[in-house]
Amino acid sequence: MSEDQPLKGVLLAGGLGSRLYPLTRITNKHLLPVGRYPMIFHPLVRMRRAGIREVAVVTSPGHMGDVVNLLGSGRDLGLDLTFRVQDEPGGIAQALSLCASFAAGQPLLVVLGDNIIGEDIGDQAAAFRSQLDADGAGARVLLKEVPDPERYGVPRFDGERIAEIIEKPSDPPSNYCVTGLYFYDAGVFDVIAGLAPSARGEYEISDVSNAYIRSGGLSWGALNAWWGDAGTIEGWHEANELARDLIYEELQSLNAP
Ligand code: DAU
Repeated sequence: MSEDQPLKGVLLAGGLGSRLYPLTRITNKHLLPVGRYPMIFHPLVRMRRAGIREVAVVTSPGHMGDVVNLLGSGRDLGLDLTFRVQDEPGGIAQALSLCASFAAGQPLLVVLGDNIIGEDIGDQAAAFRSQLDADGAGARVLLKEVPDPERYGVPRFDGERIAEIIEKPSDPPSNYCVTGLYFYDAGVFDVIAGLAPSARGEYEISDVSNAYIRSGGLSWGALNAWWGDAGTIEGWHEANELARDLIYEELQSLNAP
């Protein structure tokens, strides 16, 4: 894949937000404030700054109206947005599966809407482009060392390589978490079609990445700056503190509200 071929974006903002209830009783988790902006602005700005213009936003039927009211066409953020409805929260991989026609054969950066990212990820996108140029296919995940890996998908290493990703392990095999930023080639939709739901009844994004591990196509990079998952009350409070002024300058330079 060459530099001028677009990487498209998928922003996942469905789910129930039940861990933030009752804050999420009448609104979508991704519309809650984080610092100076609604939560969903944070991942969208990082995608935009990584050179991505076309983004599909997936959310639930009950909140699509509010999400569209907030984001509009995406013009204020310099984005071209498409919207997809996830009728029921059947898991992150199921939400992603709704974007097959949007992707139209292009590789993707998929970002979870509750991930607050303290750095630009253009270098990671470039590394993924190089991987596709060299191998023609593959996926890339971004890791972060965390004090509480049991809350996340956790990589088990075999030397430098990820041997397996285990979703919320009671006995984590490393101190790293797989953050909610995933680069996938266009084959990801065939991978999802071959998945079975997990014990909790969801189509898991970790199972998608594990399929790429089995085919030998998963690379990884590390996030260096602060990163947080604002999907729990502790995570949301921490994100509000650490991300208080995050993306402010970036958005001012875009003349966004
Ligand atoms: O934040 C990183 C973690 O995110 C990863 O380490 C885990 O491997 C990954 O499974 C995920 O774990 P969470 O428990 O944080 O996932 P959560 O259910 O909070 O969903 C994350 C986002 O995905 C959420 O902000 C909205 C979107 N989502 C989720 C579900 C279940 C959807 O769009 N549809 C869904 O059905």
